[in-house]
Parts: sequence; C-alpha cells; structure tokens
Amino acid sequence: MPDIFEPTNIIVTGGCGFIGSNFVRWVVKNHPECHITVLDKLTYAGNPANIAGLPESQVELVVGDICDAELLDQLVPGHDAIVHYAAESHNDNSIADPEPFVQTNVVGTYRLLQAARKHDVRYHHISTDEVYGDLALDEPRRFEPDDPYRPSSPYSSTKASSDLLVRAWERTYGIRATISNCSNNYGPYQHVEKFIPRQVTNILCGIRPKLYGTGENVRDWIHTEDHSRAVWDILTKGKIGETYLIGANGEKSNIEVLREILSLMGQTEDAFDWVRDRPGHDRRYAIDPTKLERELGWKPVHTDFAEGLAQTIEWYRTHESWWRPAKEATERKYSEQGQ
Ligand code: NAD
Ligand code: TYD
Repeated sequence: MPDIFEPTNIIVTGGCGFIGSNFVRWVVKNHPECHITVLDKLTYAGNPANIAGLPESQVELVVGDICDAELLDQLVPGHDAIVHYAAESHNDNSIADPEPFVQTNVVGTYRLLQAARKHDVRYHHISTDEVYGDLALDEPRRFEPDDPYRPSSPYSSTKASSDLLVRAWERTYGIRATISNCSNNYGPYQHVEKFIPRQVTNILCGIRPKLYGTGENVRDWIHTEDHSRAVWDILTKGKIGETYLIGANGEKSNIEVLREILSLMGQTEDAFDWVRDRPGHDRRYAIDPTKLERELGWKPVHTDFAEGLAQTIEWYRTHESWWRPAKEATERKYSEQGQ
C-alpha cells in the first residue's frame, strides 16, 4: 500500500475555472476536514460564481496572479499542498495570441515551483494529454505515461514546458511533486468557448453549431467529476516524482459528439455548419489509464457518455444567467476567425 498523505490546508490555483472549481466543490463535499485557499486571477475564464455558496469556514478566495512571487511568499506558508489548475486553457486562443500562455502556463508554474520549494509544500501539477501530441485515427495505440512529449499547439507546448519544469524541480531540488495528464473534460461550468458548451449554447440561442475541418478528429472524453476524484487519489496516494494519466475510455469523433448533442436537443443531424479547420489541429487523443487504475485503484464512475451529456445539456438549459454574459463576445471572436 502506498503512504497516505492527508492534506488539511491546500491552495487550489485556478479554483474559479471549470475543472478547478469542480475539484473545490468535490473536496468540500467529500473531505470536510480539508480547508481550501483558492488562488485565482479571475481572467475571462474565472468566475467566482463557480464556487459561490460553499462554506466560508472551508473555502477562501484570494484574487491574485500565480506569477506574483511576493504574493506566493505570503500565501504559501501554513499550507500543506498546492494543487495547480490555473492556466490559459484554450487552444484557439493560444493560436490567436500565445503571449498569456507563455506567461501564465510557463512563468506562473515556475513561480509556484519556487514557492513550493522554498516553503516545502507538496505540489500536484494538473496537465493535459495534449503534451504527447496526437495519434493517427486508425492507430491501435493510446498515450502512456513515458511516451515522448510532442506538443503541437502553443497551448500544449506551454503545458509541456510546465510539466518539464515540474520534473526538473522534483529531481534537482527534491520538491515533493506529482503530475497528472488528463483527457478532454466535460460537464457543467465549462466556458462557452469550448466544443461541447459552445454547440449546446449555440442551439439554445438559435445559432447553428460549428464543426471544424472534417469532424473526424477524436477526443477522449471524461466527466470532470471523475477527474477530480483521480486528482485527490494522486495527491493523497500517488508516488512522488510520478506521472499519472487520467482517462475514462471515452474516445469519440467530434462529429459523433455533435450528432449526439443535436439528437438530444431535438435537432436534425445536419443542422450544423462546417467551418474553417484549426491550424495544426491534433487528430486524435487517447489515454491508457492502466497505471492509475492498477496502482491507485481509481475507476471512472460516469461511464455512460450519453447520460452525462444529457445532464450537461440540462445544466446549460437551466443556467442561462451563468453562460449568457460570455456568449456574445465569444461568438464574435470566433466569427472574426472564420470559425
Ligand atoms: P479554465 O480556463 O476554465 O480555468 C482556468 C482558471 O485559471 C480560471 O479561473 C482563470 O481565472 C485562472 N487563471 C488563469 N490565469 C491565471 C493566473 N495567471 N493566475 C491565477 N489564476 C489564473 O480551465 P480548465 O478547463 O478548468 O482547465 C484547468 C486546468 O486543467 C488547466 O491547467 C488545463 O491545462 C488542465 N486541463 C484541462 C482539460 C480540459 O478538458 N479543459 C483537460 C486536461 C487538463
Ligand atoms: P476544444 O473543446 O477546444 O478542446 P481541445 O482543443 O483541447 O481538444 O475542442 C474539442 C474538439 O472540438 C477539437 O477537435 C476542436 C473541435 N471544435 C469544433 O469542431 N468546433 C468548435 O466550435 C470548437 C470550439 C472545437
């Protein structure tokens, strides 16, 4: 059995974003003994509403930048772990303007690692399967933890850079770090710029969904709650210095996902527009989660994609006030890009 780490006071960076806020809500529900300090800059993607209503005795929000070394120096002491979700997270934005990606994803991670080193706190790094590049559509192989890094986009290359910093800081300075690389997440509270929420809210607004390129690109979908549980398992039971891949055997082509959305929302299967492809568009992502399952006993619970998708659609249907403020600006940006 691995040693168990029992955190009682953690910093969650990016805890007002889609996946970070799910982790915060999950910890509040399942580990009331653990206090959480959310450190979030509240960029366009951060929304304090994502963690509103949680008990103040357990969750505190600090609005600030992970690149701010002085702030980290004040904040980190007294905590026993940093779980690092904060990032610029959208590929299309990284193609239009890579600058904030280099700043937040690379420099921000560097500053957090220095703080973890100085104050001797455990560090868990949230990353993506996109660091491994892409696979051919017909290749039987899936990504494995020791595969070479071959990122293709400005986003994935900055995430890969941040992972490499973590590996070096663990080996050279002996910081207590773990890394997880997860596949594409879906669920409530995801920003309307991302594939599933964009199409769902388009339909709710009477706009036709938009499919890039041929629609054959494959993504490996996981419900964000399964991701959160995996992160807790790695934080508490994972081996220092190790990389764990998180995935739920959820491979689907974009056109398959879009057709499921159209059908669940009462649309005909051709009620969408083909639009300009993403430059450098990765063909396929696929995760082999065997290590996580075997070593830490994790298994996904949300294994019925159609059911998870229907619940997610229902959430967007009933939470228009949450997504509406970001919708118009997001669609304007896409239409300027021909997408
Ligand atoms: P998101 O864009 O929804 O949220 C990012 C959060 O980080 C926001 O709250 C934002 O305000 C905050 N932030 C950005 N820059 C910051 C800075 N400089 N200082 C402090 N806070 C800052 O992102 P997400 O989809 O929830 O992704 C979270 C993490 O998970 C990222 O590290 C991403 O690379 C990783 N990831 C995402 C997916 C996915 O499918 N979305 C899959 C695998 C891994
Ligand atoms: P996205 O949600 O941006 O995630 P990622 O780039 O991290 O995989 O996109 C998922 C897939 O959907 C990707 O292959 C691009 C495609 N896509 C569309 O076809 N149309 C869209 O409007 C968007 C936003 C994405």
